[in-house]
Amino acid sequence: MRLVLKHVGNLTPLDEFGGRPARGPRSGLRSIKDAFLVAEEGRVSRLGPMTAYDPAWEEGADVVSLPGSLVTPGLVDPHTHTVFAGWRADEYVLRLQGTSYQEIMAAGGGIRRTVAATRAAGEDELAALAAGRLDQMLRRGVTTVESKSGYGLDLETELKQLRVNRRLDGEHPVDVVSTYLGAHVVPAGASAGDYVDSVIGEVLPRVAAEGLAAFCDVFCDEGAFNPAQTRRILTRAAELGLGLKLHADELEGSGGAELAVELGATSADHLLKLSDRGLEALASSPTVAVLLPGTAFFLRAGYAPARRLLDRGAAVALATDLNPGSSPLIDLRLVMGLACLQMGLTPAEALAAVTVNAAHAVGLGDRAGSLGPGRTADLVVWRCPDYTHLPYFLGSDLVEAVYKGGRRVSPGPPPGRSP
Ligand code: NIG
Ligand code: FE
Repeated sequence: MRLVLKHVGNLTPLDEFGGRPARGPRSGLRSIKDAFLVAEEGRVSRLGPMTAYDPAWEEGADVVSLPGSLVTPGLVDPHTHTVFAGWRADEYVLRLQGTSYQEIMAAGGGIRRTVAATRAAGEDELAALAAGRLDQMLRRGVTTVESKSGYGLDLETELKQLRVNRRLDGEHPVDVVSTYLGAHVVPAGASAGDYVDSVIGEVLPRVAAEGLAAFCDVFCDEGAFNPAQTRRILTRAAELGLGLKLHADELEGSGGAELAVELGATSADHLLKLSDRGLEALASSPTVAVLLPGTAFFLRAGYAPARRLLDRGAAVALATDLNPGSSPLIDLRLVMGLACLQMGLTPAEALAAVTVNAAHAVGLGDRAGSLGPGRTADLVVWRCPDYTHLPYFLGSDLVEAVYKGGRRVSPGPPPGRSP
């Protein structure tokens, strides 16, 4: 099957980084005016200006003319907690009245409430809830999503969440990268030491043996797991062949970023309380800094030092952190807008952060997040003249079409799915 896009008003392929993440400050991106793109068997085969176009490529192809439209790679959301049951809008109201996220967590609310609801939900029910969320992301131009467990905190429910990830990766047009986050918080009634032992001795080996996750993540923070416990879990995960991620320096600075770099983690995420040492460590390492400004916005906390990270040469990605507590937010373009307005990113840095760098943050830098020969033909057709409109015209529906592996998959969800 061949797809031919021609007379594309503006093609911004994010293909100028030589297979590596974009690092450091950036004020523009390569854009081709009046462009073509050809995809065969799900992969991009060629792209360029219409002056180099050959009409012979149209034979037997699905040909689409897109004057006035922008085409970019499909967006990648590299940090989400998509598989959960139950909302926590009452906690939102409490926070509006002045109670902090940590106070709610200490009083038995927060993550542990979502754990109770997720344990009680059947696998089919969880899959339907998560599929509805993926539908919404796809309609907003997202074609790859990282999805964490961590609302089970016991063997059975953690595996159930990870099986939902695997099922949706197979059934849903959006690609799902699965992450085991058993060390999200210590379950009620358990000691931290015993729980870490069970993560290492019982759950991680099952996750690895059944191939249920590509990554292992730990919430390394005050009220969750300390650096020593985090190191034990991630060292074992690496031995079992999993990639590493860290929820680092979100609520308190606890040296999570330095630990992520030391352990060779693929990404260090959050970083609201990043120290100068952590910043320097990230800037000179391949570990991608995944920033989640939606979480800072929702928690009314200070933003991560994105500008300093970029100016020091770090690779920065952006994600929604979609979850029912600290970031009930599904729109990656809103995250781009927050990044530009609140953290000082340029639109070029923000787009690189949700495409090429986000793909590297989930280990898919060799196929997703950019459009060049051999890359997966995951792309978005936007109703706007250039990429600066993506973080600019917030709340608007700019998506004209989404293609996954060269096939049109959106807009329009399958009937019968609730949000
Ligand atoms: O990324 N930091 C830990 N986990 C989530 C919050 C999850 C929740 O509140 O349910 C986060 O912010
Ligand atoms: Fe998170």
